[in-house]
Amino acid sequence: MDFPIDLTNVVINTERLTLRAFKPSDLEDFFEYAKVPGVGEMAGWSHHKDINESQMILDMFMNGKKTFAIVYDGKVIGSLGIEETNPNHFPELNEYKCKELGYVLAKPFWGRGFMPELAKAAIEYLFKEQEVDCITCCSFISNPQSERVQHKVGFQDCKSFTFETRMGTEEPSIGRVIWNNRVPLSERVYTFLRMIPDGKVATYGQIAEYLGDKRLARVVGNILHVNPDPDKNPCFKVVNAKGELAKHFGAPGGIDEQKRRLENDGVVVKDYKVDLSKYQYRYL
Ligand SMILES: CC(C)(COP(=O)(O)OP(=O)(O)OC[C@H]1O[C@@H](n2cnc3c(N)ncnc32)[C@H](O)[C@@H]1OP(=O)(O)O)[C@@H](O)C(=O)NCCC(=O)NCCS
Repeated sequence: MDFPIDLTNVVINTERLTLRAFKPSDLEDFFEYAKVPGVGEMAGWSHHKDINESQMILDMFMNGKKTFAIVYDGKVIGSLGIEETNPNHFPELNEYKCKELGYVLAKPFWGRGFMPELAKAAIEYLFKEQEVDCITCCSFISNPQSERVQHKVGFQDCKSFTFETRMGTEEPSIGRVIWNNRVPLSERVYTFLRMIPDGKVATYGQIAEYLGDKRLARVVGNILHVNPDPDKNPCFKVVNAKGELAKHFGAPGGIDEQKRRLENDGVVVKDYKVDLSKYQYRYL
């Protein structure tokens, strides 16, 4: 569920950098990094051909009120936008208060940990000041640098989709989410179940990893056992690390009911076991 945001008067200082609204006088700095080939392209837009193009986008940033300028030593060296989470990419999150982060940094400043520092501050702002339930972030699979940033700050892989760029190309991408601690673990687990495509399964450990802690596999099992709505939250799609079905599957009919539901879904079950190499939900 999207909601309006106005960053015009928001200033966030991190250890080395500042996030603040864009100003008309940022034009030269903006054009300086936006004209460099291979920067915007990694985020889905072409490098700027001339300063007029930068002026147009700068106006859009100022009017939109949802994009921070990144300032280092008095100079604008990038942008960090707080966007709408795309409901086509994350329909499972529609009922949650959610935003998506998007960012770009000028090339000479890559590799100093600037973006993780800024992303952490933006996440804290969104959780504390805007009280969002979750934040999404995505990267093209051809962009390991951005993937690293997202993993460093705690985003968890959960989706794959094709991203249509402003350049008219289609980029296979990974979608990630980070949850506000106030959202109960059970809700996060049930939401994940709804992301598993038909004909695929996930393991308890995989869901624990999505929760940010591999040791939570048992907790995941307990949460699935008390699933209040198995039709809405398809817990039959979860098997153990060997692909085995749940001996104590909660619905009437037990393990045979889980088997029936999986087979209905197109998953082959042999000796109450699923071949994970074929059926496990992977994000790539
Ligand atoms: C993605 C981006 C914001 C990363 O920001 P950053 O502040 O450099 O992030 P980090 O310093 O944490 O570096 C992240 C990873 O990038 C890689 N990296 C660092 N410097 C690099 C360089 N000069 N060239 C290529 N890769 C580099 C490293 O693998 C690093 O991971 P590591 O710290 O585990 O070694 C920046 O590369 C960028 O602006 N890219 C273009 C736009 C973009 O991709 N936006 C995101 C779209 S989803």
